[in-house]
Amino acid sequence: MVFQLKWGILATGWIAEKFTVDLLIDPTTRDVKDVSHVVAAIASSSGRTRAETFRIKVKAPSDCACYGTYDALVNDKNVDIIYIASPHSHHFQHTLECLYAGKHVVCEKPITVNAAQARILYQVAKERNLFLLDAVWTRYFPLSIQIRDIISNGEIGEVLRVIADTSMGEDVDDLWLEQKRRKVNLDLAGGALLEIGIYSITWIFQTMYHTLPVDKRQPPSKIMSHMVKYPKTGVDEDTTFIISFPTTTPINELSRTSHGVGMTAFPLASDPDQRGSAGPTVRIQGTRGEIQVFGMAFQPDRYKVIPLKIGDQSVEIREISCPFPAGGHGMFYEADEAARCVRDGLLESEVMPWKESVLIMEVMDNIRGQCDLRYPESVETTAFER
Ligand SMILES: NC(=O)c1ccc[n+]([C@@H]2O[C@H](COP(=O)([O-])OP(=O)(O)OC[C@H]3O[C@@H](n4cnc5c(N)ncnc54)[C@H](OP(=O)(O)O)[C@@H]3O)[C@@H](O)[C@H]2O)c1
Repeated sequence: MVFQLKWGILATGWIAEKFTVDLLIDPTTRDVKDVSHVVAAIASSSGRTRAETFRIKVKAPSDCACYGTYDALVNDKNVDIIYIASPHSHHFQHTLECLYAGKHVVCEKPITVNAAQARILYQVAKERNLFLLDAVWTRYFPLSIQIRDIISNGEIGEVLRVIADTSMGEDVDDLWLEQKRRKVNLDLAGGALLEIGIYSITWIFQTMYHTLPVDKRQPPSKIMSHMVKYPKTGVDEDTTFIISFPTTTPINELSRTSHGVGMTAFPLASDPDQRGSAGPTVRIQGTRGEIQVFGMAFQPDRYKVIPLKIGDQSVEIREISCPFPAGGHGMFYEADEAARCVRDGLLESEVMPWKESVLIMEVMDNIRGQCDLRYPESVETTAFER
């Protein structure tokens, strides 16, 4: 039997549109036959008309409810789960509002602004027996799952180093002029680290931490970072960090340690010509070879597995493409995962366990702390303000 999940969409900005369009794509086009999705309601804080305009634009069915407040959405009895697509400055408050109303939640990345907020959300979800997912979409892609399996199977040996770059190549002054609302706005928790650097951290964690058995996963032993701030607002526009782990993956027979080098920037580009001329955006380097990932780190579309050449033996490079089916953006994979977890009565997904999500927030807290980037109290607060 197909399990159907009824979604509410909270906020109608850029990413909400991509996600909702993906939700509406027939799951069988990606060979998914056990779960399906209904867009049951949409809410915009800019008014009901905005929600209705959004509904028409994404081609959601006419019986989908349109609300002019988030309150109305969280109280809609026809909604099982809410997808939160407000700025991350508001994720803590909006997620709490949904959980207190008894809704399961999928929240856009970063789940919160700091680790203390994330811990509270997971605690409340646990107390209320509700599913809560940190929606770092890249983790749920078939490409990521395949790469994690290759690492776990030991094909590239012991992974000692991962290099990941998520840099957009955007004019920061333009961002500030056009997008005062978000990416470079301190009051909306702007900055490269939380906005896109999280993907470099995601790659480091999903390859060097998540590929270990749960009882072998250990938090980073050391974090070093460097940050360049955008003078007009004080958010980071360019951040580089090294995250060291006391383990390696998939084995640690020699008690070696490993480390990830993460980069992120608005004004620099990982892929300047958007055709891959600069090479891979992620390199996963093991003692028996390496995996190179191509395309933006948040939405890569292919990878290469390159064995280490030993002596005269020939080396066979495997190149694998992972396009998204049915013209989708790849956001349906996290929706399918959420539906399966809710169907099975799970509160958290194994793909992004709560503990790992909090750990990643702690890493970002640490980097921000080292570089003295703090958001206003209204954004960092752990108090529910309603
Ligand atoms: N997974 C991804 O690939 C991806 C990509 C981009 C962004 N994101 C994440 O998704 C979230 C939203 O990003 P976005 O690019 O969609 O942002 P956006 O285009 O600026 O949209 C954010 C929406 O949030 C609502 N909102 C509520 N309070 C707001 C406030 N005080 N200021 C501004 N907007 C407010 C607005 O919708 P209403 O007026 O309808 O309420 C607004 O349209 C961010 O946390 C971001 O990190 C994820």
